[in-house]
Amino acid sequence: EPVDNSPAIVVGSGYGGAVAALRLAQAGIRTLVLEMGRAWNTAGPDGKVFCTTASPDKRSMWFRARTEAPLASFLWLDVVNRDITPYPGVLDRVRFANMSVYVGRGVGGGSLVNGSMAVTPLRSYFAEQFPTVDATEMYGTYFPRARAMLGVNSIDPAWFESTDWYRFTRTARKAAQRTGLRTTFVPSVYDFAYMRKEAAGTVPRSALGQEVIYGNNHGKRSLDKTYLAAALGTGNVTLHTMEKVTAISRASDGSWVLETGRLDDTGTVVETKQYGCAYLFLGGGSLGTTELLVRARQSGTLPALDASVGAGWGPNGNVMLGRANHLWDTTGADQSTMPVMGIDDWANPDNPVFAEMAPLPTGLENWVSLYLAITKNPERATLSYDNGSLSLSWSAAQSAVSVAMAKKLFDRINAANSTIYRYDLFGTPSKVFADDFCYHPLGGCVLGKATDDYGRVKGYSRLYVTDSSLVPGNIGVNPFVTITALAERTMARVLVEDTAP
Ligand code: FDA
Repeated sequence: EPVDNSPAIVVGSGYGGAVAALRLAQAGIRTLVLEMGRAWNTAGPDGKVFCTTASPDKRSMWFRARTEAPLASFLWLDVVNRDITPYPGVLDRVRFANMSVYVGRGVGGGSLVNGSMAVTPLRSYFAEQFPTVDATEMYGTYFPRARAMLGVNSIDPAWFESTDWYRFTRTARKAAQRTGLRTTFVPSVYDFAYMRKEAAGTVPRSALGQEVIYGNNHGKRSLDKTYLAAALGTGNVTLHTMEKVTAISRASDGSWVLETGRLDDTGTVVETKQYGCAYLFLGGGSLGTTELLVRARQSGTLPALDASVGAGWGPNGNVMLGRANHLWDTTGADQSTMPVMGIDDWANPDNPVFAEMAPLPTGLENWVSLYLAITKNPERATLSYDNGSLSLSWSAAQSAVSVAMAKKLFDRINAANSTIYRYDLFGTPSKVFADDFCYHPLGGCVLGKATDDYGRVKGYSRLYVTDSSLVPGNIGVNPFVTITALAERTMARVLVEDTAP
C-alpha cells in the first residue's frame, strides 16, 4: 500500500485537534486533519444543515435506527425518541457497561452538539488537578487566548431579567436563592446578539428554535467557524472527513504510520489507507485518543507506552435531574436552549457541586427545573482494549458517589422551597438522577502521567495528546475552555522546542 506522507497529522477536529491544526499551520507546517465524521456545511432537502431536537431525523445520531436522547421520556411517555435511518449523524452515544458517553461527530467535534457554556475553572481547583502546570501562565495567557479565539460572550443581564426565553432560569435562580445558594452567570460561545434578533423575530431561530444537541443551524460559534476556519484559511491544512484512524504504529525511520478506514453514508468501510507523518497529534477526544493508544499498547505496535495510558478516566461527576416547581413558579413555554446560569457551591467543603440550570423546551409550560450537576466525584476508571473493543471499568457504585453529592444539594433546595424531584424524565420509572450517561468524558491519557507536562506522550518522541484525555477525570465546570487552553499551551511549547529545524 502506498504511504501518503505529511509533515504533521492531527487526528480529530474537536477542541484539541482544532487548536493543534491552527497553530501547526500558522507555523508553516503542512498538516493533514483526519476526521471520522462528516462536514456539517451543506443543507439537506429541508434547507437546513442540522435537524431540530424536537423532530430529529437521520442527521441527529451517528449510525442509529432510533434516536437515543438523554431525556428519554416526559410524563413517563416515550415521546422524545424517533426511528431514523442509520447515517453519520452528529451526535453519538457510546455505550459502556455502566456509563454512556455522548460525543459529537463531525468537523468541529463536540462543539457541534454542546451547550456552548464556556466556563473557566476555579483557579484553586485547576491548580489542584494540574499541580505541575504554571497556573499564573494559564490564567494570564492561555485561558484568555482560548476565550478570545472561541468567541466567548455573555448575556446582557438586563435582557436576561426581562425576556420570556430565560424565565426558566430566573425560576431556578429563585429556588437557589431561597436556599441561600450562590448563583453565577455562565459565559457562552452562542452569539447573544443573534439570540436577541431571534427573539425579535428578524432572523431564523436556532437557540430559540429548540436546536442544540443535534446541532445549531445559526448563532453558535462552533469550531468550524473559529479555529478550523482560521486553520483552513492558512492554506496549510488539508481536511479529510469520514475517515477514521484505526491504528498507529512507528516505522523503522521513526516516522508515524496511520491506518485509516474511509466510511460511506451507510457506515461501510469503502477504502483503507495508510498515512505517514513526522509529527502526530491526537485530538480524538477522551475516548477516541485513548482507544488508539490502549490498542497500540495492547497489540504491541507501541509497547513503550506508559502503564497509565487508559487510566484516570472520569465523567466530570455529571448527574442530571429535574425538580417540580409549584404551579405559580412557571418556567415558561418559551425556553432558550443555551444555559446561562449555574449554582456555584464548589467552595462548600462538605459537598462541592456546580449545577447549571438547563432548559427543557417542550413548547408548553412544564414546571420543570432541569439541572446538569457537576460534582467533585473523586472516583476514576480505566479504559482498556480487550476482545476487539474498548471497555470502561466505571461501575454503578462510582456513579452513586456523584448522585449522593447531587442529592445532598438538591434535597436542600427542595426543602427550602417545599418542592420535589421529577420522576418522569429519564425513562425508567421513578428514576430521579440520570447518572448513567455523561457529556464530559475526561482522562485516559492524563497530563503528567501518560504524557509529560506538555502532552508529549511518554515513551515516544513527536507524539502528542491535545484533547480531553489530558484532564484527570474532573475539572469542576464544563470542560471545553480548559481543553482549549491546555492545547494552546502545548502547541506554544512544542512549536518552539520540538519542531525547530
Ligand atoms: P471532541 O470530542 O470535541 O472531538 C474529537 C473528534 O475526533 C470528534 O469529531 C470525533 O469524531 C473525532 N475522532 C475520534 N476518534 C477518531 C478517529 N479514530 N479517527 C478520526 N476521527 C476521530 N462542554 C463545555 O465546556 N460546555 C458545554 O456547554 C458542553 N455541553 C455539552 C453538551 C453535549 C450534548 C455534549 C456531548 C458535550 C458537551 N460538552 C460541553 C463537552 C465538550 O463538548 C467536550 O468536552 C469537548 O468537545 C471535548 O473536546 P475534545 O477536543 O477532547 O474532543
